[in-house]
Amino acid sequence: MSKVTWKPAALMAPVPPALVSCGTVEEPNCLTIAWTGIVNTNPPMTYISVRPTRHSYHLIKESGEFVINLTTKELLRTADWCGARSGAKYDKFKEKGLTAEPATIVSAPMIAQSPVSLECKVRSVTPLGTHDMFLADIVAVNVDEKYIDETGKLRLEQCGLVAYAHGSYYAIGKKMGYFGYSVKKHVSRSKLPPKTGRKK
Ligand SMILES: Cc1cc2nc3c(=O)[nH]c(=O)nc-3n(C[C@H](O)[C@H](O)[C@H](O)COP(=O)(O)O)c2cc1C
Repeated sequence: MSKVTWKPAALMAPVPPALVSCGTVEEPNCLTIAWTGIVNTNPPMTYISVRPTRHSYHLIKESGEFVINLTTKELLRTADWCGARSGAKYDKFKEKGLTAEPATIVSAPMIAQSPVSLECKVRSVTPLGTHDMFLADIVAVNVDEKYIDETGKLRLEQCGLVAYAHGSYYAIGKKMGYFGYSVKKHVSRSKLPPKTGRKK
């Protein structure tokens, strides 16, 4: 492999094009956020990086609350639109037919059409340059019951989640393995993806 070295850039992929809702059930807003992820397991913590120019920035900073709603194939066009239009000019929930659903702990609404909504409470706000990072506790996880199987397991693979990579959106496709499969003993070879590398 021969790599070309470029100047530093915000290149990380895939990331989720999450729909982050804020404001209140009565006056909701949302924006699309790709700069997000998990930063701690226990307590469960996340972050979102938001430009201070966003309408949502002040709503989140003042309330200290937001909800991360995972984006599905059905929600993708809406997520892209909500990432290109401002709540300062549009009632995005009304324009896109989104339903603002009361969350269980925070006053920010959940988006009913999203299968997974994470309620978040801000711990700190760190200015980083272009964006401010809101570090937050995930205080509740709300999952559409239709994706919970009879054993209580969340079938996230059935939700039709999408990923964002280098300016484009992709449907999450074929399962390639699972956590720890490479070190698991007694796995039937037929259940493993083919090995890559030099052929004998
Ligand atoms: C795929 C995608 C990812 C985005 N990620 C971010 C992000 O991580 N942080 C951010 O501040 N804006 C991000 N944006 C831009 C905001 O979503 C956009 O400016 C939005 O219109 C702001 O809405 P608001 O003014 O109602 O808050 C993204 C937009 C798209 C389409």
